[in-house]
Amino acid sequence: MDGPTVKMINQPLLPHRFEITDLPTYRDTARAIKVMTVRGAGAIGGTAGYAMAQAALEARDAHFGEDMALAAEIVSATRPTAQNLFYAVRRVLRAIEAEGSDVPKARQAAVAEAQAIADDDAACCEAIGRHGAELIQDGFRLSTHCNAGWLAFVDWGSALSPMFVAHRQGKKLFVFVDETKPRGQGARLTAWELLQEGIDHAIICDNATGHYMRTGQIDMVIVGSDRIAANGDVANKIGTYSSAVVAKANGIPFYVAAPTTTIDPDCPSGNDIPIEERDQDEVRKTWGWSDDGEFLAVRTAPEGSPARNPAFDVTPAEYVAGIITEKGIVPATPEGIASVARKD
Ligand code: MRU
Repeated sequence: MDGPTVKMINQPLLPHRFEITDLPTYRDTARAIKVMTVRGAGAIGGTAGYAMAQAALEARDAHFGEDMALAAEIVSATRPTAQNLFYAVRRVLRAIEAEGSDVPKARQAAVAEAQAIADDDAACCEAIGRHGAELIQDGFRLSTHCNAGWLAFVDWGSALSPMFVAHRQGKKLFVFVDETKPRGQGARLTAWELLQEGIDHAIICDNATGHYMRTGQIDMVIVGSDRIAANGDVANKIGTYSSAVVAKANGIPFYVAAPTTTIDPDCPSGNDIPIEERDQDEVRKTWGWSDDGEFLAVRTAPEGSPARNPAFDVTPAEYVAGIITEKGIVPATPEGIASVARKD
């Protein structure tokens, strides 16, 4: 945040163009979450915290409570699945409430809390990297789905953080990167992050993962999560469930990495996690850069065909070998989740 302006990487332009977007108001920042200028659970949470801080700076003195309640509603309505978003909104509101009716202090508290949420996220992800790296042996061939690296968080990432740490420890790794249709977070973002980190990898079509698992070419899967239910069920990018089932069928350990801010203790099971349904055209079109440097969307499906586009799916706890959190690796069971779940 620079004064009242939030600055962020414009992720849909990656990997071909690196641009920073300025978001002067909280409504601009909320819109950036909605249209996925920023995406990934931790990055969405960090951004939501800053949107709430901007709202506190913009709110009218005489209508402060009312304006903040509206801002909380607008920010919370941007995307339904990532628990980190709701966690961040709640944390900033609580920090404001603690200042009672002192509006200038409430504004300061909101900005400080947004910064604290972002700092916590980076620290959690760094710890996830340290714990997760212990699972990775020299020479491992890993698989991941979607993007749960530093772009999806404030820093480090969740699923990719153990790979970054293991690589820095000198272990040799190879990562199979699921392309992650329809928005291509794997091909566009995870591959780009692994390139920057110097980690060997190959992008594969989502439907090639099973082939590499069955033929013994994958030793371990690590994915991120957008929300973890109290019973250990895990919501993550659409396609995760299929990868988990095939991994189990082939005896491959399937780990989920997430900060405890992703746990929703009020969600009894995966069936209670709201699954976002996005625009049909994300499936019917594809987009990217032409050789002439133009950013283009091209239609791949027939004009008249409808499409369905769930953005996430739920992997039942029984498929998950463990949850790598900043507090350590816990089983995906009600007891395991309760042992690390936050009280805030
Ligand atoms: O729709 P997105 O890109 O916001 O999806 C979220 C994700 O990046 C993934 O589901 C990820 O694996 C877990 S969140 C870092």
